[in-house]
Amino acid sequence: MSNTLEVLRQRRSIRQFSPEPLSDAQIDQLKEIALRSPSSRSLMPWQFIFVSDKDKLRALGHSKPHGSAFLEQCALAVVICADPQRCDVWIEDCSVVATLLHLGAADMGLGSCWVQIRLRPHDDNSDAESYVRSELNIPEQMRVDMIVGIGHAAEEKAGHPQAELPAERIHLEQFDYSAK
Ligand SMILES: Cc1cc2nc3c(=O)[nH]c(=O)nc-3n(C[C@H](O)[C@H](O)[C@H](O)COP(=O)(O)O)c2cc1C
Repeated sequence: MSNTLEVLRQRRSIRQFSPEPLSDAQIDQLKEIALRSPSSRSLMPWQFIFVSDKDKLRALGHSKPHGSAFLEQCALAVVICADPQRCDVWIEDCSVVATLLHLGAADMGLGSCWVQIRLRPHDDNSDAESYVRSELNIPEQMRVDMIVGIGHAAEEKAGHPQAELPAERIHLEQFDYSAK
């Protein structure tokens, strides 16, 4: 069995973390994962902000009314942004990195979870992207796509059982309209 499939079988989104920091070696591995991510035409439109400072993590936790608060507990938040002028499919490029960080963290025995920033509100008057951009001094032309919060898991979640996988979403040779 491939190691990748084994990691996928175990992986879950983790939102509770112990206060233990990541080691320099772990942070270096996560940087390497980000930098080895494939991108369209290898244009690499992304930039990554690795945040471990507690005050900044607290601020990132307030990015959205829902779904970002756990960032405050993380040892590390990787903010993934990109310059759309560099590549038309920058969203896909950033999504690949977020996915690889999530899987790579799981493979390293760490927990992690994606926080969607693009298209999400910060409050009634502003969007989460503008909020994160201003908190981290990100240039105006950069889009902030998502944040991956990473740390030592303080919750246990079982992988999704094989029997619960939505197998009907797979069509053979052509779209099957009789499938649910
Ligand atoms: C595109 C995308 C956006 C997500 N945004 C958030 C988010 O803002 N906050 C959050 O807590 N989880 C977020 N998640 C995690 C999902 O909620 C999670 O993957 C889903 O509920 C399935 O749970 P599992 O990863 O444990 O299988 C996001 C996941 C994806 C792929």
